[in-house]
Amino acid sequence: MTETVPSLIPKSEPIDYSSTNNESQPLLTIRDLRVHFYTLRGTVYALEGVNLDVQKEETMGIVGETGCGKSITARAVLRLIDPPGKIVSGTVEFDGQELLNLHPKEMRRIRGKRISMIMQEPRMSLNPVIRVGNQVAETLLIHESDLSPSAARKKAEEMLQSVGIPDAGKMSKRYPHELSGGMAQRVMIAMMLVTRPKLLIADEPTSALDVTIQAQIIDLMNDLVHELQSSVMMISHDLGVVAETCDRVAVMYAGSVVEQGRVEDVLHNPRHPYTKGLLRTLPDNASENEDLYSIKGNVPSLFMPQQQCRFAPRCEFSQERCFQEIPGSYQVGNNHSAACFLHENGI
Ligand SMILES: Nc1ncnc2c1ncn2[C@@H]1O[C@H](COP(=O)(O)OP(=O)(O)OP(=O)(O)O)[C@@H](O)[C@H]1O
Ligand SMILES: [Mg+2]
Repeated sequence: MTETVPSLIPKSEPIDYSSTNNESQPLLTIRDLRVHFYTLRGTVYALEGVNLDVQKEETMGIVGETGCGKSITARAVLRLIDPPGKIVSGTVEFDGQELLNLHPKEMRRIRGKRISMIMQEPRMSLNPVIRVGNQVAETLLIHESDLSPSAARKKAEEMLQSVGIPDAGKMSKRYPHELSGGMAQRVMIAMMLVTRPKLLIADEPTSALDVTIQAQIIDLMNDLVHELQSSVMMISHDLGVVAETCDRVAVMYAGSVVEQGRVEDVLHNPRHPYTKGLLRTLPDNASENEDLYSIKGNVPSLFMPQQQCRFAPRCEFSQERCFQEIPGSYQVGNNHSAACFLHENGI
């Protein structure tokens, strides 16, 4: 633990996420989002105040170790948290509309139509007993009631073609188990984009596929989203994927966002000790004779509500107050913030 050195530089205030900023209106604004799971073993304080923006027409990456809350954040946006989980507090504003207060019927209209989500394992989300062309067509029919079934089938076939499925007419008659993993993921992408959503949430969309296919699928997804002028929330544990495909990135640690900014700033000039550690763990950053770096200590238990910086026990810069208070987020550059007391004394 390092001693706190008194400073003459005026202290900066943490970002006030409750004040509205009318200058730029993001497509998605998540504020102080808390999700808890009431399990038999006790309460899991899984999300403890997530603050996150996704701008219009951008790809926002979400990274962090397993269990840090990436998928739960995505599912909470769509209000898909199942019991024993509960969204305890917070706001999720999408295109000017607060989602957490919406009537379930209105929420169903948004889900799949204006916000779509691609899951990690495509076959889990595809119905095994329906031909893939019909599944894409059905998605369209649910949201566009004036479309005839034959017009929906034609549109579905066109969409399957645009996601690079060869001989789409014939392939559309196949069942999910008759497709390779890569093809099934392309069908998923077709299904999620056929309604022209404004926001696509992709939760580790390619981690079940091999590396060459991964790159092809992500490129394809980005091209299509770009054409639609939509935004993407791209969840990935792979910083390489994020570096190549995202405009901005949010780094999560144990239930909150610890750093957020443009990809080049966060990855080349990380300002939160956790992000620094995470980047050092990459094989590319180790010199030839050096062992691979790992962040000392363990991920904290989420059975306790957050009362301090959850990274403090593993942090080489931690001070006494890091164990007593929760740090707010400080501006550390243009459009770049980090939740760490180190930045209290200015940039
Ligand atoms: N059904 C559940 N019951 C209890 N706790 C849960 C449940 N689902 C999630 N959690 C808790 O929420 C935390 C966040 O889970 P989440 O699935 O968002 O992690 P993640 O960051 O997506 O991890 P991964 O990279 O492995 O997908 C987990 O650590 C877990 O403690
Ligand atoms: Mg996950």
